[in-house]
Amino acid sequence: MTNKILNFGSLNIDYVYKVPHFVKPGETLASQYFETFFGGKGANQSTALARAGATVSHAGKIGPEGKRLKEQLQSDGVDVTHIIEGSTPNGHACIQVDTKGQNAILIYPGSNGEVTKEEIETTLNQFGEGDFLLLQNEISCVDALIKLGNERGLKVCFNPAPMNPSVREYPIGLVNTLIVNETEAQALSKKENMEEAIEQLIKLYPQTELIITLGKLGVVYRYQTEKYEIPACSVNVVDTTGAGDTFIGFYLAAKLEGKGVEEALKLASKASGLCVSKQGAQSSIPTKEAVQNFSA
Ligand code: RIB
Repeated sequence: MTNKILNFGSLNIDYVYKVPHFVKPGETLASQYFETFFGGKGANQSTALARAGATVSHAGKIGPEGKRLKEQLQSDGVDVTHIIEGSTPNGHACIQVDTKGQNAILIYPGSNGEVTKEEIETTLNQFGEGDFLLLQNEISCVDALIKLGNERGLKVCFNPAPMNPSVREYPIGLVNTLIVNETEAQALSKKENMEEAIEQLIKLYPQTELIITLGKLGVVYRYQTEKYEIPACSVNVVDTTGAGDTFIGFYLAAKLEGKGVEEALKLASKASGLCVSKQGAQSSIPTKEAVQNFSA
């Protein structure tokens, strides 16, 4: 039987504002452009998995105005039967994008913060030994999900984004694949210097496959004796929102398809390169075909 992927994660409505610079304390700034997109780190990663050709189930909680998020995932081929519809307003994000394509994100968790232990148990009951559990840090009960997923024999992949101090208390030693960016690596390791941060993470989590995405500097992979450094693609950066999510979805999909680590990392880097060259989160996640045809 083929192993399944369950992504238990956030679904957000993204309000995106193009700005000449990020708004400063006390400043009122007019944005030059505004658009609403489908987002949330969880939903973006499920979209990336599906567009990369994987079969994925998404679990999470939406509010009354979030039904279109569920419909969008469904139209991408994601199994949405584990998405719960609650009464708390849907999670949303206010995203400023500056002229260099960098973003600054403010999140209102809303429905994403209302996921309960009972709900995660009910969902995990339908998955088992050898299946994959993908998690980010944008819903409630993430620590319980890591523990329960591990107890049930699922392979846990964790992207601790957005990072906050409580992540250091999570049972990260139980995680099979940890995917972090520079800030997350520094916060988890308590080391500023990236080389020291990586070595510290290896010491802290020796059983965990470690992937560090470094934006323009590419990606570093470390697991026991395996080491890879893959350069980033050279592209015109329009909006970096969703680049990490795209990378994660394409990496996991490639691994599930049986590709080796190096090839999976290269495909994922190309996919996130394509993502940053377009505006938006889910709307800028490429298809598998676009990635195959892209020569970076
Ligand atoms: O990773 C990008 C995502 O972060 C956005 O879609 C936004 O919803 C925030 O969760």
